[in-house]
Amino acid sequence: MREPIRIGVLNGPNLNLLGRREPHHYGTQTLAEIESLLRDRAGADDVSLVFFQSNDEGEIVDWVQANTASVHAWLVNAAALTHTSVALRDALAGSGRPFVEVHLSNVFARESFRHTSLLSDLAIGVIAGFRASSYLFGLDALVQHLRGGAEAGAE
Ligand code: DQA
Repeated sequence: MREPIRIGVLNGPNLNLLGRREPHHYGTQTLAEIESLLRDRAGADDVSLVFFQSNDEGEIVDWVQANTASVHAWLVNAAALTHTSVALRDALAGSGRPFVEVHLSNVFARESFRHTSLLSDLAIGVIAGFRASSYLFGLDALVQHLRGGAEAGAE
C-alpha cells in the first residue's frame, strides 16, 4: 500500500489566460484542462492535488504559507515571478517542502531575461518546453522523488 501524497500545484500571473494567451508559446490548453489532466494522472497514483493560481505575488506567498502544513511538495509554474520574485523564492525555501519547477515554453529559447530563475537552484529539477506535458512530467518526477527515486521504486 503506497503512502498517500498531497501536492500543491502553484500557477503564477497570467496563467489564468492559458488557451488564448500566446498559443505559439504556451499551447492551446486551458489551465482547467491542464488541471484535469493532472488530476487523472495523480488519481491513478494515490496522489491528491490542491491547485492555486493568482496574478498577485502576495496572494501566492500567503497561499504557500497557508498550505505548507498540508502538502508534501509543490509543483510550481511561477510564470513571470520565476524571474523576479525573491518573496516567492523565500516562501518556497521557508516551506521546507521540495518542489519541481515547470514551464510550458522553453524559456531558454526565448528572451534572455527568461533564462534566469530565482527558483531553479532550490528546485529538485526543472522541466520546460513541453507545453501542458511539462506539468505531467513534473508531477511524475515529483512523485518518483517522494517515493524514493527510480532505483528504490523498481521491483
Ligand atoms: C512561463 C514562462 C515565463 O517566462 C512566463 O512569464 C510565463 C509562463 C511558461 O510556462 O512557459 O508566464 O512560466
